[in-house]
Amino acid sequence: MKDLTPAKATLDPIEIASRDEIMALQLERLKWSLRHAYDNVPFYKKSFDEAGVHPDDLKQLSDLAKFPFTVKTDLRDNYPFKMFAVPREQVARLHASSGTTGQPTVVGYTKNDLANWGTVVARSLRAAGMRPGDMLHNAYGYGLFTGGMGIHLGADTLGLSTYPVSGGMTPRQVRLIEDFKPKGITVTPSYSLSILDEFANQGLDPRDCSLEVGIFGAEPWTNAMRLEIEQAFDMHAVDIYGLSEVMGPGVSMECVETKDGLHIWEDHFFPEIINTETGEPVAEGEQGELVFTSLTKEAFPIIRYRTRDLTRLLPGTARSMRRMEKVTGRSDDMIILRGVNVFPTQIEEALMEVEALSPHFQIELSRPDRMDKMSILCECADASLSEDARQAAAKALSAKIKQTVGISAAVVVADVGGVARSEGKAVRIVDNRPKS
Ligand code: DLL
Repeated sequence: MKDLTPAKATLDPIEIASRDEIMALQLERLKWSLRHAYDNVPFYKKSFDEAGVHPDDLKQLSDLAKFPFTVKTDLRDNYPFKMFAVPREQVARLHASSGTTGQPTVVGYTKNDLANWGTVVARSLRAAGMRPGDMLHNAYGYGLFTGGMGIHLGADTLGLSTYPVSGGMTPRQVRLIEDFKPKGITVTPSYSLSILDEFANQGLDPRDCSLEVGIFGAEPWTNAMRLEIEQAFDMHAVDIYGLSEVMGPGVSMECVETKDGLHIWEDHFFPEIINTETGEPVAEGEQGELVFTSLTKEAFPIIRYRTRDLTRLLPGTARSMRRMEKVTGRSDDMIILRGVNVFPTQIEEALMEVEALSPHFQIELSRPDRMDKMSILCECADASLSEDARQAAAKALSAKIKQTVGISAAVVVADVGGVARSEGKAVRIVDNRPKS
C-alpha cells in the first residue's frame, strides 16, 4: 500500500493549530451558536428557559454542561421545519432520515452551511489520502440520505473527479471500477463486501484494481474488518463518521497515516461524552455516549444532541483536534441477553477470527420458552465447504463468542449468499421477540 499522508502545507491551518487556539475559537463560536438557537428556534428558547439557563451563562466551554440535551424525539416533534433557525427560503438544501421507525427527521442547510459541510468533507477526503484531481467512486446512496450528496459536496470542494454511482447494481459497480480506475471509493463497509463478492463472481482479483483507499462509514465496523478489507483489496481502509442531525458525513475522520481513531472537526462540532444513564459528563477518556453541539450551523443549529453512539474521546495525534475511538455501536443497538450487554461489533470481531466463514452476518433474537435466545446467521467463505467443516466453523464461532462476550449463541452457517446483502447500511439485528 502506498503512503498517502497529505503534505502539512495542504492542510487547513486550524487542523494543526494549538489547542489554545482551537478552544478560543470554540468558545467564541459556541456563544454564537447558543444565542442563535435561543433567539430563533422556539424549541430551544423553551428548553433553555425550562432548565433555567440562558446563552449568557456560558462563560467557558465547560458551562455547556448546564444546558439541556436535545434528543431525536424533539426533532420528530418539530417536524418538518420547526427546528430551523432561518426563514425557510434561506434553506438551500434539505435532507431527511428514512423514517422507517416513524416520523422522519428533517435537516436543513443554508448556503454557508453547505460551504462548511464541503470544507469538512474535503478535509476528511484529504485525510484519507485523496488529492485534487484524483478520481472517486462514490457508492453512498444519493437522495435524502446525507451520505451520497454530502461526500459529493466535499469531493467537489477538494477538486476530485467524482462519479455518483450511488448504491446498488453491484455488477455495474465492479465494471466502473475496472473501466474508470478510481483511486478512492466511498461506501458502507457492509456494501463493500458485496462489491468484493462481485469481483470474485466476475473472475477478477480485487487486489489488481486501481483502488488505493476506501472511506468507510455510516455504520459500525471493527478493526478486524479493516484488516480483512485492506487485504482483500490491497488498499487502505479508513473510517468516516457523521450523522444527519449534526451535518452528515464528515463530522470526524480517521487519518490514513495513523488509523488510530477519528479526528473530530472541532472547529465546527463540539463533542462531549456523557454517562448514558445519568447524563453526567464522564471523566476524560472514559467511554460513554457521544453528544454534539454545532458551532457554525445557521439553518439547523443543534445543541447537546444525544447521538446514542458509544465511544470515548482521545487527544489529537495526526491533527491537533481530539479523536473519538471507533464507535462500538449505538446504545439502542445494544442487546441485553440474560443480563450481558452485547454489540453487533463484538460478534463481527469473533466472526473475523473464523477463517471458514465469510464476513456477512445477521443476529436473530427470539424468545422461545420465555428465555431470550441469540442466533447468528453467517455464511461459509467457500461454497465447496463440507458439512463437517461447516459444523466445525459453527462450533468455533460459538466458542469464540462464549469466550469473548460470555454468552451462548446458536450459529447457523448458510450457503454463500445466505445472508441478506445490504446496498447501504446493513441490518445487523432481526428482533423476533414478542413485543411486550
Ligand atoms: O450515516 C452519515 C454518514 C454517511 C456517515 C456516510 C459516514 C458516511 P445517518 O444516516 O444520520 O448519517 O446515520 C448516523 O450512523 O449516529 C451512527 O450510529 C452511524 N454511523 C455513521 N458513521 C459511522 C461510523 C450517516 N463511521 C448514524 N462508525 C450515527 C459507526 C457510524 N457508526
